[in-house]
Amino acid sequence: MKIFDYRAPKWLLEHSLAKNIRSLPQKRLRLLDKQETKIEKVGLNLQNGSFQMYIKRDDQSHNELHLQGNKLRKLEFLFAEALGKGAKHILTAGGLQSNHCRAVAGVSQLSGLKTHLFLRSDSNDASRLKINGNLLIDFLLGSKIYLVEKRAQYLTEIEYKMKILSEKIKVSSGDESYIIPIGGSNTTGLFGYLEQFDEMIKQNIDEFIDDIVVTSGSGGTMSALAIANYFTGSKFKLHSFCVCDSSTYFYNHLKQEIQDLLGSETKVDVKSMVNIVQCSRGLGYAKSTKEELEFLVDFFRNTGIALDPVYTGKAMYALVNLLNGQKPTLDYHNDENARNFLSNLKGNRILFIHTGGQLDKNRLSNK
Ligand SMILES: Cc1ncc(COP(=O)(O)O)c(C=O)c1O
Repeated sequence: MKIFDYRAPKWLLEHSLAKNIRSLPQKRLRLLDKQETKIEKVGLNLQNGSFQMYIKRDDQSHNELHLQGNKLRKLEFLFAEALGKGAKHILTAGGLQSNHCRAVAGVSQLSGLKTHLFLRSDSNDASRLKINGNLLIDFLLGSKIYLVEKRAQYLTEIEYKMKILSEKIKVSSGDESYIIPIGGSNTTGLFGYLEQFDEMIKQNIDEFIDDIVVTSGSGGTMSALAIANYFTGSKFKLHSFCVCDSSTYFYNHLKQEIQDLLGSETKVDVKSMVNIVQCSRGLGYAKSTKEELEFLVDFFRNTGIALDPVYTGKAMYALVNLLNGQKPTLDYHNDENARNFLSNLKGNRILFIHTGGQLDKNRLSNK
């Protein structure tokens, strides 16, 4: 795997806050098939015909080993760091059907590294697992799977187990390991979407876009876009639709990412950087309603674009409902940002970031 020298965008390096940046990646990989993913205008039949919807097709980023989506952009920086440190093993974690873990398994394969995946599961008996979807790909790619409690906390339980495994590997083989946090969401991974924002600026989105909408799962993609938009003069209004947790959780995540990048003395008002809508989480992580699933099928038929039920489908379902003046989920009533969504928009030209995910038969059921 070829490693390239990396220089962060000028707008980051020349900003008055740049002096606070704690560390900058020096290397990156190039995992995307093309230099940029395209932006498409989609014809949605919205009740208010003045809205225009565009989609940034990050779901079409890469075709080898069925890799795609937002994870690849983060992994360009995380794997460059791992390879630079001479790691032979990659350890990461997620849910049983994690898109992130599948992407890590694929990039490990391309980079000649061994993969160890800590997957949250209801059962600790691997022989009873249904091997399908992303988990099937993880197995086919030769990843070692370690099951952890469904509710295991990342920092106190899973990361602790990963550190013990990396010590064991070191003692038994002398090999170095590299740990990637859930969702690849740390300061190194952040650069994937700082670069993606730079790519969108080069696609001149300031000439035809007012608002940007992105899904939040671990919060890394949203944080990078919020930071990039802030550093480039807040030209767009950023909205993030969560598929789990709460808006408070994601505002705190953004605050933490800013402190990790710029130090704890840097104070910014995170609420002015992103408008977080939480009602999109609906029944909860990876649980779909009949209406959400029907929406996915209709969306696919009308636009030819496949959304996934866990991330982008939920966000787009909530977005289209809000644009139509409707209440997407029961949570709407408790969600001030959802209730004020229309008045919070900067304009009527919206860019939805399609962060990928799988529209497969196994997920098209309401669990
Ligand atoms: C398809 C897809 N979209 C969006 C997200 C959310 O991205 P993030 O974890 O950076 O918030 C994820 C992963 O969590 C994902 O797999």
